Amino acid sequence: MDAHVTAHESPIATVNPYTGERVREFPVLSAEDVGRAIDAAHRGFPNWRARSTADRGALVQRAGRLMRERKEELAHLLTLEVGKLIDSSRAEVDLASDILTYYGEHGPELLEEQPLPVPEGTALLVSNLDVADMTELTTLPGGDAAAVDQVLYNLSRRGIEWDLLPWCREAEVAVMAYSPIEQGRILEVEALGAVARALGATPAQVALAWVLEQGVAAIPRSGSPDHVRENRGAVDLHLPTEALDALDEAFPPPGGPTPLEML
Ligand SMILES: NC(=O)c1ccc[n+]([C@@H]2O[C@H](COP(=O)([O-])OP(=O)(O)OC[C@H]3O[C@@H](n4cnc5c(N)ncnc54)[C@H](OP(=O)(O)O)[C@@H]3O)[C@@H](O)[C@H]2O)c1
Repeated sequence: MDAHVTAHESPIATVNPYTGERVREFPVLSAEDVGRAIDAAHRGFPNWRARSTADRGALVQRAGRLMRERKEELAHLLTLEVGKLIDSSRAEVDLASDILTYYGEHGPELLEEQPLPVPEGTALLVSNLDVADMTELTTLPGGDAAAVDQVLYNLSRRGIEWDLLPWCREAEVAVMAYSPIEQGRILEVEALGAVARALGATPAQVALAWVLEQGVAAIPRSGSPDHVRENRGAVDLHLPTEALDALDEAFPPPGGPTPLEML
């Protein structure tokens, strides 16, 4: 990153929790500094994106290797900064290094498209592809096997309705909504609660039924059997026009093209 960061008087410091000693001070970034750093990252991204996943994986593995080589130095820093016992700090450096090594080695295969076993031949599940990516994919060898695009979609993230959803309908590519209840964050929205109460349903059921109503598959995640049963109920919930209108008012559809959001 080539951003020039200017130092200011800093209230941010590392304080040794054992002795109370002020070990190091860090510069506070001004809004301009942050803006320059973001611009630099944005300029660098296309080059990074264009590199092969094998290349990027090798770099991530190297980071893991360097971390292990500098284990004592990093463990010492960790202990100094957060007061962890030195053995725990060493174990944490090992863990972080193992994670980098794992993703460096396996990242490329984890990022590959996943062929789905279907009787008609090969079908691909792809994820987070916007219209431009989908269009490009269909020009690549085997790209026409793309059968499902898994993207972020829920009441509070309706950007795909502007272009991606119509494009997929036209191309007969199924859309699958991940984080369909916005990881639980939309469940407290009063308008959603009001619609749910009027229908004798729960907010999660209404949010999921709304996704299904758009012809989109929903994959809510839950570790709770009660929530799984509740979410299953969305399949049988019909949303009348008044409910759909109330939801549109509380969660308006996009007024123009919106970059594909991701979580
Ligand atoms: N392709 C991608 O880039 C991508 C990105 C993100 C996620 N995903 C996939 O999408 C799936 C779901 O996404 P997500 O986990 O991000 O978000 P989500 O399904 O919208 O929300 C999951 C959260 O909501 C809670 N929840 C589920 N049902 C509930 C209910 N009826 N009432 C109250 N809380 C409820 C769960 O807690 P409890 O366990 O307590 O129920 C969990 O904390 C995941 O399986 C993930 O693999 C894909």
